[in-house]
Amino acid sequence: MIKIAMTKGRIEKNMEKMLLGMGYDISPIVNKDRKLLVDLGEDFQIVFVKSVDVVNLVNSGAVDIGIVGSDTIFENPSEKYSQLVDLESGKCYFALCGFPSYMDLPKSAVKRIATKYPNITKKFFEKKQEEIEIVKLQGSVELGPIIGISDAIVDIVETGETLRANGLMVIEPVGAVSTRLIGNNDRIREKEEEIGKFIEQIQEYKQQIKVKCEAPQNR
Ligand code: PRP
Repeated sequence: MIKIAMTKGRIEKNMEKMLLGMGYDISPIVNKDRKLLVDLGEDFQIVFVKSVDVVNLVNSGAVDIGIVGSDTIFENPSEKYSQLVDLESGKCYFALCGFPSYMDLPKSAVKRIATKYPNITKKFFEKKQEEIEIVKLQGSVELGPIIGISDAIVDIVETGETLRANGLMVIEPVGAVSTRLIGNNDRIREKEEEIGKFIEQIQEYKQQIKVKCEAPQNR
C-alpha cells in the first residue's frame, strides 16, 4: 500500500479527475466528508492536508509520496525528497503584482513585498539586485498594497480575477507553477515496484489525455 499526502482543495479536485481517468473508484474520496485519512481500495491510503504539510509529511517519511504545487516545492526545498512527475495540471504562475504606481518606484528604493513565499521572493529580487523587506502574510496577500502595508506582492496568479477585482496588475512574471508528484527518497527505494507502477499508470494517463486533446475533430 502506498501512503499519499494530497493537497486539499483545487489540487485534490484535479487529482480526483486523474484517478477516475486512471480507472480507480474515487467514491471513498468524494464521500469522505470530514475524514482526514481515506483508503482507496487496497492500493492507496490518502491523507488530506495543506500544501506545506504535504512537503513536511513526505520529508519525514510519514507518507511515501505527495501531490503538491511546485510553488510549495520551490519554497521548501529538501534533499530528503525528489520530484517524480510533473502532473501538468493546476497550471498557474508566480508574479510580482501591484498597483500601476509601483512602476514609478526607483530601482534603488527598498520595496516592501507581501508574500507567502519569502524564499522565492528573496531570490527573485536578488537577481534583480533590488533591496526588499518581506511582509509575511499567510493568505489574501493582495491586501498588502490595498491596505498599504506593502508596495507590491509576489503571489500565484491563476485566472487573474483576484488582481482585476482589486485594481492590481502583473508587474513582472516570476515563474511557472504546476502540480507535481514528489516522493521521500528512502520510501521510493523501499517501495520501488509499487511506486514505479503508479508512476507508469500516471504517464499512460497523461499520454491518453494528450492524444485526446490533439485528435483532429471530425466534422
Ligand atoms: C490564490 C492566490 C491568489 C489567488 C489567485 O489564493 O494566492 O490570491 O488564488 O487566483 P486567481 O488568479 O484565479 O484570482 P487562494 O485562493 O489559494 O487563497 P489565499 O489567498 O488564502 O492563499
